[in-house]
Amino acid sequence: MNILITGANGQLGSEINDIKDNYKAHNLIFKGSSALDICNYNQLESFLVENNIEAVINCAAYTAVDKAEKEQGIAKEVNAIGVLNIVNALKKTEGKCIHISTDYVFDGNSFLPYQEEDEINPIGVYGNTKREGELAILDNDIDAIVIRTSWLYSSCGNNFVKTMMRLGNEREELGVIFDQVGTPTYAKDLAKTCLEILTNKEKEKISRNGKLYHFSNEGVASWFDFATAIMDISNTNCNVKPIETKDYPTLAKRPHFSVLNKSKIKKDFGIEIPYWREALKQCISKLNHK
Ligand SMILES: NC(=O)c1ccc[n+]([C@@H]2O[C@H](COP(=O)([O-])OP(=O)(O)OC[C@H]3O[C@@H](n4cnc5c(N)ncnc54)[C@H](OP(=O)(O)O)[C@@H]3O)[C@@H](O)[C@H]2O)c1
Repeated sequence: MNILITGANGQLGSEINDIKDNYKAHNLIFKGSSALDICNYNQLESFLVENNIEAVINCAAYTAVDKAEKEQGIAKEVNAIGVLNIVNALKKTEGKCIHISTDYVFDGNSFLPYQEEDEINPIGVYGNTKREGELAILDNDIDAIVIRTSWLYSSCGNNFVKTMMRLGNEREELGVIFDQVGTPTYAKDLAKTCLEILTNKEKEKISRNGKLYHFSNEGVASWFDFATAIMDISNTNCNVKPIETKDYPTLAKRPHFSVLNKSKIKKDFGIEIPYWREALKQCISKLNHK
């Protein structure tokens, strides 16, 4: 199968690239934003048709959650119109698509892990534009799924894990929010899941039981718990103290609770998901060997 990975230089794209050798039976084609712009429909369609692309994993996104509050136009262009471009181009090649969305489509007022069919209510520009991108997939008749994920980190790119390790080496004490609860996701685990879904029985439809799925690592944590585990596992001598959301103002509001229920993806695709702390150990071990 010819599989295109868009946004290939981001966290998820880089992790897919890192495990590509396990999928040598397939032709994985990696394109970053400068080589292939999902907002440029003509370029995208020509590329898909000329290279006979049979599946796309869309890792391209505008992910700057706070900046999006001021840059609504470009966030919508990439997160909504770009996804529709992929859908329309895939109609020409009759290809499949895995598109990645976010826990930020929920308002965070629940106290039970979110299921796929739960009511969405994004509370910021980023979440709203990502919801529009979901609808581009859900409202169109192509073999595609949306995987919502949360708190993504990786050994590549900028993320919470790397920031905490850096700050932990610079400071003796760090205040981290304890009243936002979710689940960290190691991008390597999501990368594996995407490739397993696409390549396992490749002739089967991937949109088996509806098009929406949730994926994160297992378990629950606050940002404070996550930061404490990062310091602990990386042997960083920094005292993490819990602070409230109101003490760390940001441009965009974040959901207070965004734990995702992953029963459906596990059942439909037979996936086993590591506990978040075990996944974190793997990522930090990789960072230590870089
Ligand atoms: N990060 C999180 O905590 C998180 C949480 C939940 C869900 N998600 C979702 O998970 C997915 C992967 O996130 P990530 O953390 O891997 O994102 P990321 O590291 O920010 O990577 C996104 C990539 O998309 C590229 N891109 C931007 N505009 C593009 C365009 N017009 N055409 C092609 N590529 C473009 C970027 O390239 P440039 O850098 O060159 O612009 C970047 O390399 C996204 O859909 C995101 O919304 C992320």
